[in-house]
Amino acid sequence: MNITVPTSFVWNDEFLVGHSTMDDTHREFVECVTRLLQAPDDELLPALDAFAAHARAHFGEEDEWMRSSNFPPGDCHIDEHAKVLASVDAVREALLQGDVALCRELALALQDWFPGHVQHLDSSLAAWLVQRSHGGRPLVLRRKSAGA
Ligand SMILES: [Fe+2]
Ligand SMILES: [Fe+2]
Repeated sequence: MNITVPTSFVWNDEFLVGHSTMDDTHREFVECVTRLLQAPDDELLPALDAFAAHARAHFGEEDEWMRSSNFPPGDCHIDEHAKVLASVDAVREALLQGDVALCRELALALQDWFPGHVQHLDSSLAAWLVQRSHGGRPLVLRRKSAGA
């Protein structure tokens, strides 16, 4: 059976952290997860591989920033990245055995996980990096939501 899961996971300016490279990468994260959420069964593997490639680059870059700048609370952030990558690897193995449902669960879990990760961990890394390079907090310009 080929099920396309509807998704409401779209970019939201609440995800902005005020570090332009990180914000661009986070837009790409949303695109990759959306592709994974919407992929028909026979396109799940390439969509998962595309997400995995994105995640390795995305998390690897943040991990490197944390290590090279001696970011104080870096360990738990690095651990969280590693756990996501380990889940992706396990889900890929399961998908190769035909477990489509687990891959769909992962896509939904990533959608749920991302806002909190950005809000609690990526935003403090962005503030740290911007403060070190410019001596101030990042400037975040968000569009007003409709009716606001
Ligand atoms: Fe990130
Ligand atoms: Fe992160």
